[in-house]
Amino acid sequence: MDQIAYVNGSFVPLAEAKISVLDRGFLFADGIYEVSAVLDGKLIDNASHLARLERSVGEIALALPETLDRIREIQKELIARNGIENGLVYLQVTRGAAAGRDFAFPKGVKPTLILFTSVKDIVNAPSAKSGIGVITVPDIRWARRDIKSVALLAQVLAKQAAAEAGAGEAWMIEDGKVTEGGSSSAFILTQDDVLVTRQNSSAILPGCTRKAVIALAEERQLRVEERPFSIEEALVAKEAFITSASSFVQAVVTIDGKTVADGRPGPMANRLREIYIDFARKTAE
Ligand code: PDD
Repeated sequence: MDQIAYVNGSFVPLAEAKISVLDRGFLFADGIYEVSAVLDGKLIDNASHLARLERSVGEIALALPETLDRIREIQKELIARNGIENGLVYLQVTRGAAAGRDFAFPKGVKPTLILFTSVKDIVNAPSAKSGIGVITVPDIRWARRDIKSVALLAQVLAKQAAAEAGAGEAWMIEDGKVTEGGSSSAFILTQDDVLVTRQNSSAILPGCTRKAVIALAEERQLRVEERPFSIEEALVAKEAFITSASSFVQAVVTIDGKTVADGRPGPMANRLREIYIDFARKTAE
């Protein structure tokens, strides 16, 4: 079956889904994106993703071409049309295509909205059992990482370096502390059982999965501290893990080739993963 994409009001075969070469997303990375997971054909934590979408577009003064309710309908229709049981829905909105190549916002141009889906069995991913390795790279991104911008070149380079090193993620370092992963939030569990993850600020993306995991942990009386941590601290931690829509909770077992604890996914990462998947199924829409 041909995959269907959504482009500016129409559902079209993916191969025929096209936008202009003048699209500002293409020319300037002048756009915002979101990725929501799908489990059993249903959207996971999607209200949180749509709220972040609304915030991100607001921060760059880009008006959504559709309401959030309509976007949710489009997401659902695409999941149904593509028969997605387990996977991801990608959504991108840009400031549209305007003649010329003016940096300043064009007037009277309709934003471009595109969505497509992909298949991914996040729950049964082999890396969930084995854990992943991460490498560290300098965080060379811009200063507004709280905006989910499509300008991802720094992450492309970071994750390519990780792939070449046989690692599953790159942790980005600034001023001696981990900011976050190339496409995930970073956590450690200290020797005295405190979950540590960097506080939200313009230095990181406010992860939807991060937010849900913190709330689920606190509901269970687990101690959470939102502060930066260093690689030295991570290497003497009990556990390390990442969170994201595309991995949920995923244990980190090596950092730059050095093992975290015994080099196997720890009980806390496994437990939070189960708790998160349970929350995801119960709140899926
Ligand atoms: N990435 N930090 C960064 C830089 C990210 O790109 C992402 C998500 C996260 C985790 O956020 P969330 O829990 O809301 O997915 C943190 C998506 C999955 C991506 O780019 O594919």
